[in-house]
Amino acid sequence: MKTSLAIPVTTIAESRLAKTDFSNLVFGKTISDHMFVADYKNGEWTGLRIEPYAPLSLNPSNATLHYGQSIFEGLKAYKNEEGEVLVFRPDANWKRLNESAERMCMPHLPEEIFMEGMSQLLDLDRGWVPTAKGASLYVRPFMFATDDYIGVKPSDTYKFIIFTCPVGNYYSKPVSVKVETEFTRANPGGTGAAKTAGNYAASLYPALQAQRAGYDQLLWTDGQSHSKIEESGTMNVMFKINGTIITAPLSSGTILKGITRNSVLQLARDWNHPVEERFLTVGELEAALVNGTIEEAFGTGTAATIAHIERIHVNGKDYTLPSKSPEAFSNKVLAELDGIKYGKISDPHEWIIKI
Ligand code: COI
Repeated sequence: MKTSLAIPVTTIAESRLAKTDFSNLVFGKTISDHMFVADYKNGEWTGLRIEPYAPLSLNPSNATLHYGQSIFEGLKAYKNEEGEVLVFRPDANWKRLNESAERMCMPHLPEEIFMEGMSQLLDLDRGWVPTAKGASLYVRPFMFATDDYIGVKPSDTYKFIIFTCPVGNYYSKPVSVKVETEFTRANPGGTGAAKTAGNYAASLYPALQAQRAGYDQLLWTDGQSHSKIEESGTMNVMFKINGTIITAPLSSGTILKGITRNSVLQLARDWNHPVEERFLTVGELEAALVNGTIEEAFGTGTAATIAHIERIHVNGKDYTLPSKSPEAFSNKVLAELDGIKYGKISDPHEWIIKI
């Protein structure tokens, strides 16, 4: 691998790799040996280093703990049959991280620090990239405020860290969702388009209510009228109705700019599949469920990739979707994405970088 940044490395005294059960990976529980760290102070990123994954030391007055200046990304690395590590669209994550940083008054992170920090970390921990079907190494870059100050203002100092976790499938089966008409994930002018911690914190209570009612996740609706479908849980959501893929547009500022969302839309357009980026109304969804014109519904996200939706609760009624056929668009797009990610088919959009 060509490297241009000299990043000092302190390796772990005893790797946890040999003691890790790769046959039983719970998402986010198993963390690899090392992490990449950089500190922001006096207006620049300094102290770039790779060191053993370990606890951080924070003062109780740390600004993030009080006011939530914290952003993150999620991307995945895969192993091909030759044992090379392939990373899916990390440049898109870098761009989105900086869009989130802008919204949260946090500093821009140069591309070279993101890409080199990630590449050198993955090179060192390449043994942690799983090889089983459907498994991958989830990469979690994040940035948070480090000022010890509880006045409400943007922090002057920050930390950027990347750590990784070997993961299996996020959902082991198709999911059931409930159209949410009381709580709201995001409003115009708010932070919905930013990948920031508070959005996830605020989603926990409504998601818990849905789970208590017997659903895996929510279908979020807009905050003004609760009449337009926005996202599902922590994923973007797509519907195939009368042959057309419909998903919410990014223009409202309330939708996360999903990289899987973008990849699915790109593949659909490559295949001349009809696509509409527009809000599907709850009324349209209900009508399509009643009259049977809905063919598929699925979430798209890095962690879940493509999550098939099998049951939707809307206006007091549960509807079961047609069972997914092997020819379903969501199956075809999942197979294509997996083919590209595991290096089995060609990558016409140059989404993969090799470590
Ligand atoms: C991802 O898909 O990477 C996400 O951000 C979802 C995550 C919160 C598990």
